[in-house]
Amino acid sequence: MKDKLSTLLEILNYSADLLSKNGIKDARLNVELLFCHVLSCSRLKLYLDFDKPLTQDEINKFKPLLKRRLKNEPLQYILGSTNFYGYEIAVNPSVLIPRPDTEVLVERFLEKTKDEDNISILEIGTGSGCIAAAVSGELGKNNKKYKYIGIDIGDEAISTATANLHANNIPEGSCILEKRDFLSEDFSVKELEEKYKLEFNYIISNPPYISIPEYKLLDREVLDYEPGTALTDSGDGLVFYRKLFEIKNICDAVFLMEIAYNRKDELTNLLECAGIKDYNFDKDYSGNYRVLTLNR
Ligand SMILES: C[S@@+](CC[C@H](N)C(=O)[O-])C[C@H]1O[C@@H](n2cnc3c(N)ncnc32)[C@H](O)[C@@H]1O
Repeated sequence: MKDKLSTLLEILNYSADLLSKNGIKDARLNVELLFCHVLSCSRLKLYLDFDKPLTQDEINKFKPLLKRRLKNEPLQYILGSTNFYGYEIAVNPSVLIPRPDTEVLVERFLEKTKDEDNISILEIGTGSGCIAAAVSGELGKNNKKYKYIGIDIGDEAISTATANLHANNIPEGSCILEKRDFLSEDFSVKELEEKYKLEFNYIISNPPYISIPEYKLLDREVLDYEPGTALTDSGDGLVFYRKLFEIKNICDAVFLMEIAYNRKDELTNLLECAGIKDYNFDKDYSGNYRVLTLNR
C-alpha cells in the first residue's frame, strides 16, 4: 500500500482497485466491510468519515486483512462471521459459510410448522449451526415447544455450532448437537429417538450435494478455503438423498432438504425408484427449484 495515501477514502479506493484488478468480485463492498471491521463502525459511519486520516495503527490492522482477501480467502472467514436469517453466525474454515439460498429452507420449514406445536426436529449436517440457530430462534420467538437435534461429522463444526447457539441465546437443552456419521451403517434415526425419548416430526438437511466432477470446477475461493466434506459427497451428488429416501420409508416425519438448482429431474427419478409419491419441489426467489419436501 502506498505510503502517501492517508485518508480513509484514498486507501479505500486504492484497495478496492487492487482487489478488482485481482479478480475479486464486489471489491468496493469487500473493502468497506473490512474497514467497518477494523474501525468497529457501520457503513454509514464509514461514509461520514471518508476524509478522516487513518492512524498507523488502523492501517496496520487493515493491511493483513486486505492481503488475505487478495489471496481469495472468503470475506466471511476474514471477518469471522456472517448474517443468516437475521442471526449472527461465527464462521471459520471448519464450517461452510451459510448461503442466503439456504434461508429458503428455513422459510419453508417455518411456513409448514406455523400451526404446529411440540415440534421435534432432526437436522443432518448442522455445520455452522446457521439453520439450527435460525429455526430454534424463530420457534422460540413464537413460543413454540420444540426439541432440535443436530448432527454433523466434524468435531470442529459441532463446537462452532454450539458456540453459535449460545451466542444467539438459544436455550440450552432445546437444541442439542452431536457428532455422528449419517452415512455410517450404524446410523439410526430410531436410536436417536430412543436416546432423546421423542419421535421426529421433521428431518431437515442441507447435505453436501456437489458431485466430484462439479466440485473440481468450483471457484478457487470455495475450493481452497471451504471444507470439502461440507460441499461434496465424493460421489454423484445424490448420496445423501438416497439415504434420506431410504429413511423416509421407515420414518413418518416430514423431510425438508436443500437441493442443487440443477438436480430436480434426477431426484424425481430417485423418488420414484424409492416408491415415494407425496413430495414437492419449491423454488427460490431466482426461480430455481431448491427445496424438496417429502410430506408425511
Ligand atoms: C452443505 S453443509 C451444511 C451446513 C449448514 N447446515 C448450512 O446449511 O450451511 C453440509 C454439512 O454436512 C456435514 N457432513 C458431511 N458428511 C457428513 C456425514 N457423513 N454425517 C454427518 N454430517 C456430515 C458437513 O460437515 C457439513 O457441515
